[in-house]
Formats: sequence, C-alpha cells, structure tokens
Amino acid sequence: MRDVSERALPIVRSQAFPNVRMRRLRASEAMRGLVRETILRADQLIYPLFVREGRAERQEVPSMPGVYQLSSDDAVREAGKALELGVRSVLLFGIPSEKDPVGSGAYADHGVVQGAIRRMKSEYPDLLVITDVCLCEYTSHGHCGVLGGTAVLNDASLELHARTALSHAEAGADIVAPSSMMDGVVGALRHRLDEEGYEHVPILAYAAKYASAYYGPFREAADSAPSFGDRRAYQMDPANARQALREVALDVQEGADIVMVKPALAYLDVVSRVRERFDLPVAAYNVSGEYAMVKAAAQNGWIDERRVVLETLTGMRRAGADMIITYHALDAARWLREDGM
Ligand code: PBG
Ligand code: ZN
Repeated sequence: MRDVSERALPIVRSQAFPNVRMRRLRASEAMRGLVRETILRADQLIYPLFVREGRAERQEVPSMPGVYQLSSDDAVREAGKALELGVRSVLLFGIPSEKDPVGSGAYADHGVVQGAIRRMKSEYPDLLVITDVCLCEYTSHGHCGVLGGTAVLNDASLELHARTALSHAEAGADIVAPSSMMDGVVGALRHRLDEEGYEHVPILAYAAKYASAYYGPFREAADSAPSFGDRRAYQMDPANARQALREVALDVQEGADIVMVKPALAYLDVVSRVRERFDLPVAAYNVSGEYAMVKAAAQNGWIDERRVVLETLTGMRRAGADMIITYHALDAARWLREDGM
C-alpha cells in the first residue's frame, strides 16, 4: 500500500505559494490570539430584561428558554448577576398590568419601568440602565403609537414617546432608546429632554429597525403582539439597505448618540454599511427569534451552543457593531471569562 502523501499532487507554484502559507499564523492558540482582529468583551454586551408589574414569581418565556418575566426585585438581582460577570448595561422592557388605547402605563410616573429604574440605580449606581421607549407593551391594541381608525398616527404619537422618555430620565435612566420607528421620534425626545434639563442623557436610536418575523418570541415575552394588522407601515421593509442609511442619517441629524440596526443576523450587511458610512457608535440587536433558534437547536443537541453563540456575537462585532444587545449576554460573559478573555 502506498502512503497517501506519496500520491499527493505536485506543488503548483504561483506568485505567492509556496512562499506564502496562510496556515503559518494559525498553528497555535497563542499565534491565533496574536493575529486576532475582532475582540468580544463582556462590557460590549447589553442584557435585555422584562420587568412585570407586581411581585409574582419569575416566569419563563416558553419560546425563550432562560429568559424570564421578572418582578422588579428579581430584575434588580438579575442586574447584579450581570455586573458580577462584567456585563455593565441592561435594556429594560415593561409589562404593565393594565393596558389602554393610549399606552398610559408607558409614561406613568410610577409605571413598572420607572419603578425598576429607581430600584436598579439605587442598588447599583454604576449599572448603565437603558430603557426601551415605545408604547406597544402598554397599548390595548399592541401598536407602537396611537391609532386613528386602524392607522398608527405618527405625529400624534411623538408627544407620548417624548413623555415616556422624559419619565424614564426622571427616574434615573442613563440612556433612552426609542424603538417605535415613528418619523421624528429622535428629535422629539431630544427636544423634550433638553427642555427639561436632561440634555446629558444620550439617545440610542433604533435607527434601522426592520419589520421582522424574528421578533415573534419577544412579543410573547413582552405581551406586545399587535391585535390586528402588522408593523409594516412603520418598520422597514427587509429588502431595503440603502433606505437604512437614510434612516440612520436622519436620526443622526435629529441628535442620536448611538445608532442601532435590528435584527442583527439577517442584516449584517446593513451593520457593515452603517459602520462604514457613519462615525457614531453602532449597536446591533441580536433579537428574540435569533436567540430562540439557537436555543432550540442546542436543546436538541444539534449544535454546540457555546461555540455558536460566541461565533455569532463575534460575527456581529466583525461586521462593525460596537455593542450588541443580546439575551445570551450572561452566558457569553461566563464563557468569555472561562476562555480567559
Ligand atoms: C418594541 C420592541 C420590539 C423589540 C424591541 N423593542 C418588538 C417589535 O417591534 O415588535 C424586539 C426585540 C426582540 O425581538 O428581541 N417596539
Ligand atoms: Zn413598539
């Protein structure tokens, strides 16, 4: 029997090979570490939390194993865990006990999110508390603004979004994040915050937010599915990338401090183009459906969860995201720590 190597093809010389051999720099972990271009750190991750009114026990979201609807006490404890692992930012969503057509709970002084912010900031002053500013968890119809017939009214909704952001800032939020895709919402928030003495509070704009089926599990988690229709008349058409650049440019003009692309995985080209065109920090939202798919496959033993999660988050960073909002934040931070990162 002849050895395989004896049957190897003759070396084909090119301009480069065999002088150039890419494998030289892949030979050991130390070598790979030396030439690694993209670094993922725990403090680049933002951990979303769902805070529910009342004191009931934490309740797992069926389509998002490991994600819970929390009482505000539990949410504070969860934020503490995050901090211990080096994850220094959380993104809060509220689940009120009552809903109405104008989403009053969103801007109530003692609403569920406002209360959670106060508790978190008093327990952990150094924690960065970011709040999602939208009405859909608080409206009886589940849309992100107020209705005129079956249409979501843009300009009439701006005042309520501004009021919501102000109430978060008053409660101590460090960053407000408008997610409604109403035209002019960033400017409306900036104006109101400045008027009321919160000119130091940054705006993280959900700038390029697509009308995505990947939000399905979130709507179960936040109880925010629209009761009729969908969000395609305000969120972006998944087919558009150039339009995302216009959306970002407008939010920058209106005073956004950080711009977000959402979802992340199916839109990494958009992340990359936004990164190249703009100098602001860019955030990517690794959304609920992306999380659910990984969890489902992992629970079936079909993928290696740890490696898939770290590879995915690294891919988002490589595409140009400075920060990533992800339900995997605590697991990822733990794994990065074990890997000595
Ligand atoms: C609220 C909001 C949504 C998400 C973040 N903020 C849902 C939606 O627009 O329907 C989705 C987050 C996720 O899927 O993880 N407007
Ligand atoms: Zn909304």
